[in-house]
Amino acid sequence: MASVQDFIPQPYTETTDKGSFTWSAPSNIALVKYWGKKANQIPANPSISFTLSDCKTITTLSFEKKKSTGGFSFDLLFEGQPKESFRPKIEKFFERVVQYLPFLEEYHFIIDTQNTFPHSSGIASSASGMAALAINLMSLERLLKPDMTDDYFYQKASFLARLGSGSACRSVKGSVVIWGNHETTDNSTDLYGIPYAEVHDVFKTYQDTILLVDKGEKQVSSTVGHDLMHGHPFAQQRFAQAHENLTAIKRALATGDVDTFIKITESEALTLHAMMMTSLPYFILMKPNTLEIINKIWQYRAETGVPVCFTLDAGANVHVLYPENVASKVLAFIKAELLGYCQNNQYICDKIGTGVVFVG
Ligand code: PMV
Repeated sequence: MASVQDFIPQPYTETTDKGSFTWSAPSNIALVKYWGKKANQIPANPSISFTLSDCKTITTLSFEKKKSTGGFSFDLLFEGQPKESFRPKIEKFFERVVQYLPFLEEYHFIIDTQNTFPHSSGIASSASGMAALAINLMSLERLLKPDMTDDYFYQKASFLARLGSGSACRSVKGSVVIWGNHETTDNSTDLYGIPYAEVHDVFKTYQDTILLVDKGEKQVSSTVGHDLMHGHPFAQQRFAQAHENLTAIKRALATGDVDTFIKITESEALTLHAMMMTSLPYFILMKPNTLEIINKIWQYRAETGVPVCFTLDAGANVHVLYPENVASKVLAFIKAELLGYCQNNQYICDKIGTGVVFVG
């Protein structure tokens, strides 16, 4: 398992003046949630997620050697237009990772980004965005150090993405990724995400239909949210529970135990929101329509036996999760019964995916 020291590079053996790369990176949806962190983006508990397939960020990184080194120099484009509001986040990211990527001060960069999901859909783009940027930076580092192994390349991309946005480290690889030290998971680490390979066929093609209940800006930023776990009266029990749930959901994923998967996934989503409701200050991030949808899903599952369930991010949107072999039934149910609770009837059909893709 790699340590922080392993990501501080040896002197580079090659040079390059200019060039560009394009990579796509997907979003991911946590099943056991990461909520609460320590210094340097170290998670308070381990988490596990499905990497998504169609909700992704596509980023082109162009680089050209500067005349004089020192300081960071970059331009930001979002969907073809200059996007100055991203600057502080990228500046902070560069400051955090420059010790691992010393070439950052030597180039001028153009970071040109677009998302496949609609702008202001309430879907966070920080995971896919940071993963896409991190993997592009690794492509540049590999030009400077061509003997790098593939394992190092992807692990360091995940390590860097984590320093941009914690959950982004789970977006580099697919299809199921574990991040955070966990006693019964070999090679698990707080530093980067690792793929979990023991996945039964039923989960390999799992579907995620995202119901856009509230497309507004996040009411609570991740930073504020994670901070709420400091001094939270239930924090220690919650962190212990995440370890247990991870053990149990790994077993369910390996054996194809959909019922246990549903219990843990839904309980984790509600626990995440319960933590926010019981912190100081307290927040309710669900909307009335979030609850309407949850109740409809429970009613439909009880009446039909179709194994459909939900999870939530730190917001009001609902991720509806189900096996591919019931997709037509569930989509008919969603269209008939759930879309009325979405803003402008909007939803996104996604599914489990494989991680970053080199575009060119
Ligand atoms: O990666 P961050 O700092 O934006 O935190 C994400 C936290 C949740 O999405 C609520 C849970 C998770 O594990 O992805």
